[in-house]
Amino acid sequence: MAVTIVEHPLVQHKLSVLRERATNVRDFRALCTEISMLMAFEAMRGLPLEEVVVETPVATARAQRLAGKKLALVAILRAGLIMADGILELVPNARIGHVGMYRDETTLKPVRYFVKLPSDIADREVFVLDPMLATGGSAVAALDLLAEHGVTAPRLLCILAAPEGVAAVRAAHPHVEIILAGLDERLDERGYIVPGLGDAGDRIYGTR
Ligand code: PRP
Ligand code: URA
Repeated sequence: MAVTIVEHPLVQHKLSVLRERATNVRDFRALCTEISMLMAFEAMRGLPLEEVVVETPVATARAQRLAGKKLALVAILRAGLIMADGILELVPNARIGHVGMYRDETTLKPVRYFVKLPSDIADREVFVLDPMLATGGSAVAALDLLAEHGVTAPRLLCILAAPEGVAAVRAAHPHVEIILAGLDERLDERGYIVPGLGDAGDRIYGTR
């Protein structure tokens, strides 16, 4: 399945500011939500429409409304929550699933600590959200979990990825479409994306 990089100038401009070490917590949060909202435009491009007839104040109009499956956003905690905030501005009725996962600093393997998904998630169009796709361990574990719950073709939205993470997702879940704002060069020896933006969760929540 394709990897889409959202090349829109607004996304690329905001991403450049997000990367900067000097960007403060408040601006970092705002940029994450804005970039996520803009990425959702691209990620939701293929949603089906149906024709409806509406009464305007002037006449009858044929118009298009979203049809098909309802939406669910699945945020990989912690950092994915900020992406859900941005996308909910566009699709406020979407259901939200939470998958709590942190990366063990030594092994770089994901450790799952929380799962709460909408009960009808298998019947929904699912968007998995995490700003960072590094080794891909967290995303693959979340996609494995969703597959166990009957989700067949979710889309994965990440602000930044390393080639290693993209390769891991494609190997484990070849039918998952990946939507990114940026694809970076590599991982460093600590599993950080280079040049990246640092630790997304710490920059969003002001921890560390
Ligand atoms: C970060 C990030 C991803 C994961 C990516 O989360 O938000 O979930 O690392 O790394 P991977 O692709 O190698 O698995 P982190 O573990 O720092 O947890 P946090 O969001 O709670 O800070
Ligand atoms: N998680 C992050 O938050 N940043 C990275 O660069 C890699 C994993």
